[in-house]
Amino acid sequence: MSRNSLSRRRFLQASGAAALWLPTSVAGYTAAEMRQFYANGEMSVNVSKWELDTPALCVDLDLLEANLDRMASTMSTNGIASRPHAKTHKCPTIAQMQMDRGSVGICTAKVSEAEAMFQNGIDNILNTTGNVTPTKINRAMNLRQQCPGFIQATDSQDNARLLSEAAVAKGIIADVVVDVDPGIRRTGTPFGQPALQLAQLVDQLPGLNFVGMLCYDAAAQHVVGFETRKAQTLERMVQATDTFEMMKASGLNTEIFSGGGTGTYNIDHDTKGLTDVQVGSYVFMDAQYISIGGEEDNEVYSDFHTSLTIMTTVLNDQYEGKATSDAGAKACTINQPWPIIKGETGMSYRSGSDEFGTITYQEDASRTYKVGEKLEVIVSHCDPVVNLYDQMYAIRGDKVEAVWPISARGMSA
Ligand SMILES: Cc1ncc(COP(=O)(O)O)c(C=O)c1O
Repeated sequence: MSRNSLSRRRFLQASGAAALWLPTSVAGYTAAEMRQFYANGEMSVNVSKWELDTPALCVDLDLLEANLDRMASTMSTNGIASRPHAKTHKCPTIAQMQMDRGSVGICTAKVSEAEAMFQNGIDNILNTTGNVTPTKINRAMNLRQQCPGFIQATDSQDNARLLSEAAVAKGIIADVVVDVDPGIRRTGTPFGQPALQLAQLVDQLPGLNFVGMLCYDAAAQHVVGFETRKAQTLERMVQATDTFEMMKASGLNTEIFSGGGTGTYNIDHDTKGLTDVQVGSYVFMDAQYISIGGEEDNEVYSDFHTSLTIMTTVLNDQYEGKATSDAGAKACTINQPWPIIKGETGMSYRSGSDEFGTITYQEDASRTYKVGEKLEVIVSHCDPVVNLYDQMYAIRGDKVEAVWPISARGMSA
């Protein structure tokens, strides 16, 4: 049996998911109707997630809150902070829930994402990706002008000079962190002297204020097996710590040393000097993350719950051994492992076709579906899925409690 099918089976057992009888051919409230119903926070509206027009993106509030609480309590036990990455949820409501639980700020991946967060009340933002074109540099400094809590990352001396010129032109001094490469050569400046020299330049430039560094090891997050992940992470981050120490020793302001993610959140406090983790996926989890294994469960990463699902409707049941649904690649992406059908066993889901999902039954399938019936799938990879929807439904039990705009949806520039 493959690791993934084993993990899925174990996951379904661990989640205690039972086959439910579901209401079937309901009319299906559209996204626009739902926005209207819930516009005034009307708690008397009583719509079940099974009554939504599909595909519909849903977040289970009990599970989401448990994830947020677990991260907050782990951080407080481990003596570091969280600066969660909003690239995962793109939703100011969730960013605010993170801030309310003690996060020191949020991260964004793109300046447009940062603008959307700021416009919706989040004012402590670290933009982890560099801006290299005049348009984007200008946009970042415009945002800094309005939002004193905005911090921009840079990874080259030329870029730092351009940022400084733009800041001076606007009459501001912008907070900047140096992005240090953990050894994956994607973004960031190399460890040691190059990072130190860049930090010193930032510190000296008239438009910039050096506030620390970030070092996010993307390659560490999905390493399978907790002990392997831990050993690799801590070994690779030694050079980041050394670099941070060099910055400190040269008298620079080192208030921020940010890094780490969902896969390493309970490892990162052992990286000397690290001040906060940029955790993203933990709010939702997904099929990719659950298969990496955790400290408590070697096969299933069960520290956090899979709170994000897609409701989908069966369109065709005429063929032996399978059914076709309305959530394909445009609703679920083509990321793999494929989405997992929640609460059922003995069947798999594929979203490789643009408009259609394929449900394939094995001999021991817990049920089959008829046309018009709905099913719920756990997402494959949360970040790109969220980016496909304008709103998510916040669900308690089966009831839709709120409709949350995904304000930074599509903000990839
Ligand atoms: C720079 C940066 N920080 C943090 C994260 C969050 O990682 P995760 O979703 O694994 O928690 C990401 C995700 O890709 C990232 O690119």
